Amino acid sequence: MGRVSAVLMGAAVALLSWTCVVATATSTTASASSSVTIASVASPRNETSSSPSLAASGSNSDANANLQQLRMAPVAPEQDKQEKKEQQQQQQGLLEQKLQRLQEQRRLCARCDCFALRSAPGSAAKDGNTTVRVSLDENLDDILDVTTAIPGLGAPTTTAASIKGRTTPPPARPDNQVLVINCTSRLLAEELPRWSWPARLSAGEVVAAETWAEFRGGDLSGVSRLPQLPFRLTRLSLADNRLRTVAPRAFANLKALRDLDLSHNVIADVPHDAFLGLASLERLNLSRNSLSSRPLSADLFKDLGRLNRVSLAHNKITGELNGDTLPWSGSVQELDLSYNGLTSVSAGAWRRLPNIKVLDMSHNKLGSLTPDAFLELRSLERLDLSRNALVALAPGSLAGLAGLHALQLAHNGLRAEGLPAATFAQLSALHTLDLSSNQVSLPEGAAALSALPAALRALDLSHNPLGRAEGGLEGRSEAGAALPAGLETLSLAHCGLQGLDVRAWGKLTALRSLQLAGNDISVLSGLAHLPLEQLNVSSNALTRFPTVALPALRSLDVSHNHLERAPTPLAPLLRAVWLDDNPMEELRVAASPALALLSARRMPQLRSLPRGALHLAASEAPANASAPCLTLLLSHNPALSEVHEDAFRNVTFCQLDLSHNALESLDSRATDWSAVPSLDLQGNPWKCNCRLQWLLEGPMRHIYSSSPTLLEDLRCARPAEVSGRRLVHWFNHTGRALCDGELMDLQSAGSVTFKMSPASLAVVICLGVVAVGLVLLGILAHRRYVARRRVRNRRF
Ligand SMILES: *[C@@H]1O[C@H](CO)[C@@H](O)[C@H](O)[C@H]1NC(C)=O
Ligand SMILES: *[C@@H]1O[C@H](CO)[C@@H](O)[C@H](O)[C@H]1NC(C)=O
Ligand SMILES: *[C@@H]1O[C@H](CO)[C@@H](O)[C@H](O)[C@H]1NC(C)=O
Ligand SMILES: *[C@@H]1O[C@H](CO)[C@@H](O)[C@H](O)[C@H]1NC(C)=O
Ligand SMILES: *[C@@H]1O[C@H](CO)[C@@H](O)[C@H](O)[C@H]1NC(C)=O
Ligand SMILES: *[C@@H]1O[C@H](CO)[C@@H](O)[C@H](O)[C@H]1NC(C)=O
Ligand SMILES: *[C@@H]1O[C@H](CO)[C@@H](O)[C@H](O)[C@H]1NC(C)=O
Ligand SMILES: *[C@@H]1O[C@H](CO)[C@@H](O)[C@H](O)[C@H]1NC(C)=O
Repeated sequence: MGRVSAVLMGAAVALLSWTCVVATATSTTASASSSVTIASVASPRNETSSSPSLAASGSNSDANANLQQLRMAPVAPEQDKQEKKEQQQQQQGLLEQKLQRLQEQRRLCARCDCFALRSAPGSAAKDGNTTVRVSLDENLDDILDVTTAIPGLGAPTTTAASIKGRTTPPPARPDNQVLVINCTSRLLAEELPRWSWPARLSAGEVVAAETWAEFRGGDLSGVSRLPQLPFRLTRLSLADNRLRTVAPRAFANLKALRDLDLSHNVIADVPHDAFLGLASLERLNLSRNSLSSRPLSADLFKDLGRLNRVSLAHNKITGELNGDTLPWSGSVQELDLSYNGLTSVSAGAWRRLPNIKVLDMSHNKLGSLTPDAFLELRSLERLDLSRNALVALAPGSLAGLAGLHALQLAHNGLRAEGLPAATFAQLSALHTLDLSSNQVSLPEGAAALSALPAALRALDLSHNPLGRAEGGLEGRSEAGAALPAGLETLSLAHCGLQGLDVRAWGKLTALRSLQLAGNDISVLSGLAHLPLEQLNVSSNALTRFPTVALPALRSLDVSHNHLERAPTPLAPLLRAVWLDDNPMEELRVAASPALALLSARRMPQLRSLPRGALHLAASEAPANASAPCLTLLLSHNPALSEVHEDAFRNVTFCQLDLSHNALESLDSRATDWSAVPSLDLQGNPWKCNCRLQWLLEGPMRHIYSSSPTLLEDLRCARPAEVSGRRLVHWFNHTGRALCDGELMDLQSAGSVTFKMSPASLAVVICLGVVAVGLVLLGILAHRRYVARRRVRNRRF
């Protein structure tokens, strides 16, 4: 023994000393190599591409020296002492500089969130690329390379080791990498001006396709100077920082910036040279500031040759918009002036911004439009004037808008009298017109509606009093017939219509979507031959749905009517139907296998689902139109107590919601319950007896594993002993818990009505006695067994 331990001891000592030797050798090598690397700092590699203020500190990060190495660096072999000493001093100075810079840099990523975003096409999800987020460490310069070598990103395989001693230029950047420095919600005001950015960023090296910096939600109101930002920055957000003004030439070096977000500040004043130098800027967001009607400098966008989108929404620009309010720009195509207090637009207001295509002036206080208000905007395609106070559109107020596609006029006070026949006639390219929530009435409005441009495809007239007045739309075939024949989408929802004969618009042979919800329509006619795909007649007074073939119909909403039967037959391509809130006593739906959604909720009279209630069977629908499965929403029907065992024919469910009905029991044969991916049976007064035992065995286990929250309110109502108990209580029971003696609901037998002869009654009684005897025997036999095996779950 002694010898063995002595040998072991000796071996250990030998091993230890060998380790020491190796360690010493390694550390010597390490310091040698670090001093070699650092030596290269002495000759800054390239200054030509560096930004002025940061150039001196050198863009060479090849050293890859971390702070530790820097501190122990200046160990040099003895040589020519004089020369070496000078060199050493020089080196020392540079190292000090570098150390300081690194410390500042370190502060950046220690306080902010530094990461790289890469879309990885290799591991792409079905609908698009997966974005991979790679967190970067404190020392950004060293890490930038490593991120390109993350396995699975399809990047060049550079190992950390080869980066350490690298002298070759960095591998080409993948064009899908975004480097993000996110300092949002950090309290940075004090230290921000002192920061320096990672040298390679500052030096303008392309380390990523895009570089974003976000400084939202701080308070930079006291910061007079931003840190020198890397001029490859492509996106900068200074939103929500209580900034009051923008300094002259504040972003002068950001030549690559495309996106500048200054929203959510209190900027009231922008000097004429604030955006000087932003040659690549495409989007400027000045929304939610305090800009007033005081004109912005005409030269504000002078340098911004690529500026495309400008948002001035949510400011305090009030009164009249005139030709001096906004700066010159030939490139701006989208302008957002919503949520200001503009009351009028003078002729000539757009002379400095002639190329606008999309103009949003919603949520202002425009009361009227002068003639020629938009005359200069020859390229305008979309105009949003909704939520203003317009009561009339003067003739000529939309003159010149020959290219306008979409016009939103919703939520104004427009009256029929204020819409002369020629109002829309000149908008020859108009495709979409939204006049919803106005005061347009008939017959006064008929003239304007009759003169709608032929190109119109979508018209929204909802929430206008079209049916209230004498001679409303119902009776006026000429008003309907006048709508452009190419119309594909028409909304007449909430218009007070009482009847509707769509034949009145015999020309609407292209109509695909018709919205009639919220009227008082009791008879619907003339739908035949329309190529309708969507029909919404919810919240009307229909007692019957017309039996017409709607061969193209995909979606039908007849909820909230007085229907006693479901529409039948349902269209062959129908995918979704809503029958909710109708007084049906029985549900019978025959549809094609294309049906994917059926909703029948809140029907107070619905008592049963009879045999074949839901029948999906052969139809003219092409086989490729079949839905893989059906979502059946059949909940909150307070009288629904019976589901026939044969209620669902040929139905595969994706979701079956039978919650909050009056079901006491269910037949295990009605469908393959365990195969329904989402089954909600909660809120029913379940009678927990042997007839429901099957539910514990298959379906409940399935629900437990797929969506346990659907067991929360799955409770017994009867028998009284277990009233209110969750079914999941018996989850771990072995044996047939609901068939146990204590749960046998003996009294309930009395409630069953037998229609039998006395003889068969006698037989039944005999059988009953025998059965009770057997049950008692069973109880005796299993009592100990059950008592021993029962595991009560304390959670339930
Ligand atoms: C500096 O950059 C220029 C142009 O990019 C190049 O021609 C020159 O060789 C570089 N100098 C050094 C020392 O790398
Ligand atoms: C996926 O990434 C490729 C390459 O980066 C890009 O061209 C493509 O547009 C991306 N697709 C989507 C859906 O983002
Ligand atoms: C920056 O951080 C904030 C808050 O942590 C987050 O809401 C925002 O989406 C982040 N921005 C980016 C570009 O990841
Ligand atoms: C501008 O900023 C506001 C507020 O931060 C934001 O809601 C809006 O979407 C931005 N607009 C654009 C065009 O980016
Ligand atoms: C039908 O119209 C009503 C009222 O506008 C709306 O609430 C409902 O969602 C619409 N139905 C469908 C299926 O879009
Ligand atoms: C089904 O097939 C027909 C012709 O075979 C085709 O026109 C139609 O677009 C297909 N529908 C779908 C949903 O694939
Ligand atoms: C179920 O569908 C098949 C094939 O579509 C059909 O042959 C069968 O008759 C259907 N069964 C019922 C009960 O409708
Ligand atoms: C069933 O028993 C297992 C093991 O004792 C336990 O982990 C689980 O929570 C129980 N589940 C229920 C629903 O009682």
